Amino acid sequence: MADIQSLPGFREFYPEERAVLGHVFEVWRRTCRRYGFREWESPVLEPLELFTEKSGEEIVRQLFNFEDKGGRQVSLRPEMTPSLARMVGAKANGMAKPIRWFAIGENYRYEKPQKGRLRAFYQLNADLLGEAGPAADAELIALCADCLIGFGLVAADFKIRISDRTLWFKYLESKGVPEASATAVLGVVDKLERGSPADLLQAMSKALADIKVDAEKLLADVRQFAAIRSLPDLEKIAGADVAMQARLAEWQQLLSTIASLGFAECVTIDLTIVRGLAYYTGFVFEAFETGGDARALAGGGRYDTLVKKLGGPELPAVGFGMGDVTLRDLLAAKKLIPAYADGPDFYVMVLGNDVRPTALEDVAKLRQAGFRVEYNLRDGKFPKLIQSAETAGAKYALVYGGEEVAKGVTKVRSLMDRKEAEVPRADIIPALRAVLEEGMDAIMP
Ligand code: HAM
Repeated sequence: MADIQSLPGFREFYPEERAVLGHVFEVWRRTCRRYGFREWESPVLEPLELFTEKSGEEIVRQLFNFEDKGGRQVSLRPEMTPSLARMVGAKANGMAKPIRWFAIGENYRYEKPQKGRLRAFYQLNADLLGEAGPAADAELIALCADCLIGFGLVAADFKIRISDRTLWFKYLESKGVPEASATAVLGVVDKLERGSPADLLQAMSKALADIKVDAEKLLADVRQFAAIRSLPDLEKIAGADVAMQARLAEWQQLLSTIASLGFAECVTIDLTIVRGLAYYTGFVFEAFETGGDARALAGGGRYDTLVKKLGGPELPAVGFGMGDVTLRDLLAAKKLIPAYADGPDFYVMVLGNDVRPTALEDVAKLRQAGFRVEYNLRDGKFPKLIQSAETAGAKYALVYGGEEVAKGVTKVRSLMDRKEAEVPRADIIPALRAVLEEGMDAIMP
């Protein structure tokens, strides 16, 4: 048969790789729990329209969708937020608010596979629903920072850039752009850093096709607004605009809460962030690595209308997603991936089939007590079994020969320094627990 490879953009995880992924999940999970978040999960396959209606245009182009055998139009999930909004919406009335939920799951997007972007990636989602004020946004931004710091990253390694679609809408309104055209203008803002001047002007003219606002002038204004990096400068540009000033009071609250929680250094104001997804309504943010490729590590924001759009009650919400791909690259670059010793604690050397029943009795006892134990499935001689123990990555070998069994002991041999000591089989569990905690000294005569 032909050599059948895995699909482009999908990863295979050999145990060493899977151990790193496990580490990532563990840090995410532990951090979310520290913030009082509870874990949830949703189906990986959903009705297509959940995403065509609710995710942004870009995601819709990237859907892994097909017709199932029952003639249903379905899609693998490109993100978890629409499913979350549907699930919370269905039971929101009976749920204590605010709702703090997190999930870790695989998402699928038919993107061009490249460094940091794959077609299947894991994502942490953390969402807080039922609180409309900036305290909730601050809580999520703090959690996002902590989910990076949990790996040993420091504030200098990443920045969370915070922006605000509400402020953008108010600003554009002050420039004569009604809400109906503002979304298209934000599409241009999204490309400010990448697009050529000619392309940007063309896109801006298109966005303003229905209204009487000069594209060139607005493009210049928008550039100036997007370049602002401080609250005082924002206040200056807002001037006497009451709506913008009111919004800036909320900014004040957001930033001071983030500072009180100890994450001031991790964030910056950056209005070039507008987020591609269709459902964001207020503060939005993205975490980027500061060095290297400056790739996005996480992205999120407020989406106050999505739950209702999916049939639930009106419920304000804010959340973010953090992917495993760029994060892993960053951790590798910073040498923050721990070396995993996932070998067994003990390798039981069964020296002869006559002692096998006794040895296996102890194997079962040790496993029952929670130790990780391997043993030779086939008979073998001492040197070969020592080698097998080392290859398995065990810390200690336990020798079961005729002599040991007759004496009612097992011989513990450290594979690190070859020290040996005997332990009565009757005491095997406490003795080996002590060995794991304190080393061979715990049992040396
Ligand atoms: P997003 O910005 O599309 O937001 O994705 C969040 C993060 O997922 C990105 O910053 C990136 O780390 C990772 N990611 C996205 N696409 C890929 C890909 N093709 N390959 C590798 N990693 C990727 C959302 O998905 C929103 N649903 C987040 C959210 C939750 N908003 C509110 N709650």
